[in-house]
Amino acid sequence: MVKNQKKILAALAGETISPPPIWLMRQAGRYLPEYKETRTQAGGFLDLCYRPDLAEEVTLQPIRRYGFDAAILFADILLLPQALGQKLWFVTGEGPRLSPIKDTNELKNADEVHEVLSPVYETVGRLSGSLPTETTLIGFAGAPWTVATYMIAGRGTPDQKPAHDLMNDDPAAFSRIIDRIVEGTIEYLSKQIDAGAEVVKLFDSWAGSLKGSAFDKVCIEPNLRVVEGIRSRHPGTPIIGFPRGAGDRSVDFAKTTGVNCIAIDQSVGPEWARDNLQSICTVQGNLNPSLLVGDGSKIAENVDSILRILGDGPFIFNLGHGITPDADPDNVTKLVSSVRQ
Ligand code: CP3
Repeated sequence: MVKNQKKILAALAGETISPPPIWLMRQAGRYLPEYKETRTQAGGFLDLCYRPDLAEEVTLQPIRRYGFDAAILFADILLLPQALGQKLWFVTGEGPRLSPIKDTNELKNADEVHEVLSPVYETVGRLSGSLPTETTLIGFAGAPWTVATYMIAGRGTPDQKPAHDLMNDDPAAFSRIIDRIVEGTIEYLSKQIDAGAEVVKLFDSWAGSLKGSAFDKVCIEPNLRVVEGIRSRHPGTPIIGFPRGAGDRSVDFAKTTGVNCIAIDQSVGPEWARDNLQSICTVQGNLNPSLLVGDGSKIAENVDSILRILGDGPFIFNLGHGITPDADPDNVTKLVSSVRQ
């Protein structure tokens, strides 16, 4: 295929594409009746993640329905802690649970993660054969800090306090955990790329709770180490960073890590992103996912405003965070046609 015939890859290479390519965070998920059906067939969420035929199917569902320009691998950021030896389960209606850790003594080495994760690589391989030729396949992992917050607390927390406490009380143990995640993430993403992922994204969903020098040390630096690790093995693979909640610190993040694209959340103004980020890298974002709930009457005007501001530079249309389970699938149709018309 001619280089950058895929719109997402062209946008990530710095081209301005009009209309811009679009995909959505959590585009495969509980708002889709066909997802719920496949998930029931799998038994549970983790069974779905580790069944390559079913994970392939749910990755393809939103592509069939909406024709997005990218498919994101169906998996979860918490599969890596599980592959490192932590117990992981999901409580229905509540979310993830892990056996909490305070150091690395119970964790496996980074190069031992593949045994558990090999079904994920198989899913990627299947997808690279089954996706339409114009659709880009995105692999992903959690960024080290965000993954560490779940590993240390054993669950999602509103303020990530257990991880902040360990960082302050036992910085050496905290660093060992971050280092192990950095190494495991490089292994995990490299194998996704070997299997056919064309782009990788690092989700730092809790970056916003790191302030001042902690942001540099625990968000930017570990993301940089993952970027360097990936680039040394796969120099041509574009990388998207998502330092959610980082606000104006996204500029330092972009400059220091050298990611090809910054995904912005809906707390960042599109004008600010145009003026401060789009000259450094491609920007992705940032429609408020709540606009997809209800009658969808505000979608078109909000899309127009984002396109007017960010559409004249390298840009990928997305949400500021994942689609919620109460989103109306017809509103996603409206969104895609507003962006493409
Ligand atoms: O975007 C996609 O469609 C690809 C798949 C994907 C999932 N999780 C599937 C999923 C991706 C990229 C993720 C990333 C992820 N997982 C993040 C970072 C992004 C973000 O949203 O901030 C985080 C923090 C997690 C951890 C996680 N997984 C939590 C906290 C939960 C519970 C909350 C919830 O929505 O239920 C999950 C579960 C999860 N991961 C679901 C899906 C589709 C819902 C599970 C189900 O079907 O029951």
